[in-house]
Amino acid sequence: METVRSEQRGAVAVITLARPKALNALDRATLEALSARCAELAARRDLRAVVVTGEGRAFAAGADIAEMRAHGPLEAEAFSRLGHAAFAALEALPVPTIAAVNGYALGGGCELACACDWIYASSKARFGQPEVNLGIIPGFGGTSRLLRRVGVAWAKELVLTGEPIDAETALRIGLANRVFPPEELLAAAVRAGETIAAKGPLAVAQAKRILQEGQDADQRTAHALEQAGFGFVAASRDRSEGMDAFLAKRDPKFEGR
Ligand code: CAA
Repeated sequence: METVRSEQRGAVAVITLARPKALNALDRATLEALSARCAELAARRDLRAVVVTGEGRAFAAGADIAEMRAHGPLEAEAFSRLGHAAFAALEALPVPTIAAVNGYALGGGCELACACDWIYASSKARFGQPEVNLGIIPGFGGTSRLLRRVGVAWAKELVLTGEPIDAETALRIGLANRVFPPEELLAAAVRAGETIAAKGPLAVAQAKRILQEGQDADQRTAHALEQAGFGFVAASRDRSEGMDAFLAKRDPKFEGR
């Protein structure tokens, strides 16, 4: 049975983790399926945004503990690499990705949410890095992406205590951008995707790439990336269309060229 579904809603793809009986725990098959869905989406020229969510009462309750129990050190390292590869494929998509965190986002689930460009949370969401409860540490980016999201002190509190936080706390510390009533969450995330779909696709992709690469670069390099990107989009038809439309007081029709 497919554990990761992808459906199209106009220009927005919704990726749904679908192992609800195991609270969408991330096992090898699910991570491989996520990578495969990302590869399919990366090839689509008409895609403008991706929403990632979970079926049932969890976004994802972490890596699959039953599967990990059998791992020795080499298998554990390979499993960590597999998770990193899947999340890197998601992060590398040229279109914006939004995590719609509908419930538990623990361990690998919180790390998956942090691999998306931003997080919208249901008021029922719970975030945490409970790995130390199991005698392990985060393995899918919890010591790096989470830290960049919330700063070192909150990352340390979450990773070192293993205690979860609620949606309001996630909002306050900048982990979630917004909190919605559960029944409004998915529609709000798709709506954000539709908002993006109306903008210049080349500009959105360029800005995403520069934000991403700039955050790991020193400021001089980040500025140079921005200057080069600013020049690059100026060569596009979309730039002419966007500015012509503004000056003619009409809506632009972007082609992504
Ligand atoms: N792996 C495997 N199975 C899991 C799971 C996980 N991470 N989380 C939940 N499940 C399974 C449970 O075993 C249970 O299965 P059965 O019905 O077959 O017994 C089913 O999902 C429902 O779970 P619960 O009965 O436990 O539901 P609950 O409402 O009582 O509790 C919960 C919910 C608090 C999220 C609890 O399930 C829980 O603590 N889960 C584990 C969370 C966790 O430790 N995550 C980190 C994993 S390690 C990791 O992610 C490492 C990494 O960075 C790569």
